[in-house]
Amino acid sequence: MAVQQAAVIGAGTMGAEIALVIAEHGVPVVLKEIAPQYLERGLRQIDALLQRRVERGRLRTEEAQAARARIHPTLEEQALTTVDFVIEAVPEQLALKQAVFRDLGRLTPPHAVLATNTSSLPVHELAQASGRPANVIGFHFFNPASVMRLVEVVVTAETAEATVATALAFARQIGKLPVRVRECPGFLVNRILVAGMVEGMRYQQEQRAALDAVDRALREQARVPMGPFQLADLVGLDIVAEIGGILEAAYGERFQVPPIVRELVAQGRLGQKSGGGFYQPDGTPLPLGDQPVEGEQLVQRVLAAGFLEAYRCLEEGIASPDEIDLAMQAGAGWPLGPLTWAEQQGLPRVVALLQRLAATVGPRFTPPASLVERAARGEPLRPQPTDTPRSGGA
Ligand SMILES: NC(=O)c1ccc[n+]([C@@H]2O[C@H](COP(=O)([O-])OP(=O)(O)OC[C@H]3O[C@@H](n4cnc5c(N)ncnc54)[C@H](O)[C@@H]3O)[C@@H](O)[C@H]2O)c1
Repeated sequence: MAVQQAAVIGAGTMGAEIALVIAEHGVPVVLKEIAPQYLERGLRQIDALLQRRVERGRLRTEEAQAARARIHPTLEEQALTTVDFVIEAVPEQLALKQAVFRDLGRLTPPHAVLATNTSSLPVHELAQASGRPANVIGFHFFNPASVMRLVEVVVTAETAEATVATALAFARQIGKLPVRVRECPGFLVNRILVAGMVEGMRYQQEQRAALDAVDRALREQARVPMGPFQLADLVGLDIVAEIGGILEAAYGERFQVPPIVRELVAQGRLGQKSGGGFYQPDGTPLPLGDQPVEGEQLVQRVLAAGFLEAYRCLEEGIASPDEIDLAMQAGAGWPLGPLTWAEQQGLPRVVALLQRLAATVGPRFTPPASLVERAARGEPLRPQPTDTPRSGGA
């Protein structure tokens, strides 16, 4: 079903920009807040983004005005009674989101898809709160939402196929690249990204390496946009600690964030948003180590940790092999998907690397039996295109 009218709940960092993306793609959107000052702040953010685009020649003034006119700011819940697709983007607190989903279940038309932009909360618990779990789905944008193309479409055990189809189509309608993900803690991108991030941080702790040297080696040698400490400062150390905790509770020790992250959070050093985290605002790293980095060892550990998590996602049926790779490229800016990386190395070589890391670094690198067997049998990670049979002659 084509979406004629959408709604976004919460006009904060994510919600305001999501509403703008929807409006720019020709769909009227209700933007719902709880107080006028938050609504005004969100609208100022939208106006500033539109103005910047006009100044840079990306949008004509009339187009910007038309997009802005499609955004209907409101504090009234009645505005939600006619919408087809809702995206909830209120703060990351379960009880608050459950209350919002209870209201959405009561207010929106029975056919409406109820989506959540949560990064880490269980979508199925929000689905339960709505009273119509078949209509509920995760719709996870990446920050900044108007720039990053990926949307993880997170499907719970109770999401109806019609809901999935509408969500995938709506994501494409608003110019995004949807990846279908089966619900699991961390979903797909954060699960793989945080696995690599934690490994980079652990390397630094063990080697007492300089933070900026770790970040630089990963940028230059793994060609990722950011090393773990820059990424943590950008995302917020409180968020890293929180998501790390959720992932560790779900999957165990391999997601254990080094204690320094929580120590810095306790000191109020949350990253860029609080005027400094692992780096000072002038770019100076905290003096947590001064040893040089052995680049190849670091890069192998980080890529191997990312690949192992991607392989587990594949085995658990969280996403298809192509979508796993696409998600890490579009959502995290990795130059290669983790499965493609392993294919380029050759699976037997990757298994040998994992076994060596398991013996020298820690048992978290132990390759799963299915991977060892797959490598031994020469079986690829993804189904190979079969040869098209030649059509027989007359
Ligand atoms: N910030 C990120 O980088 C990022 C990235 C991906 C996903 N997310 C997720 O997006 C969601 C929103 O995050 P954010 O960073 O935009 O938060 P935010 O704090 O910037 O904005 C949340 C907004 O929701 C409003 N709000 C609170 N209760 C409300 C209610 N009952 N009805 C309507 N509005 C209400 C608040 O007034 C606030 O303006 C969270 O679930 C977060 O995990 C955030």
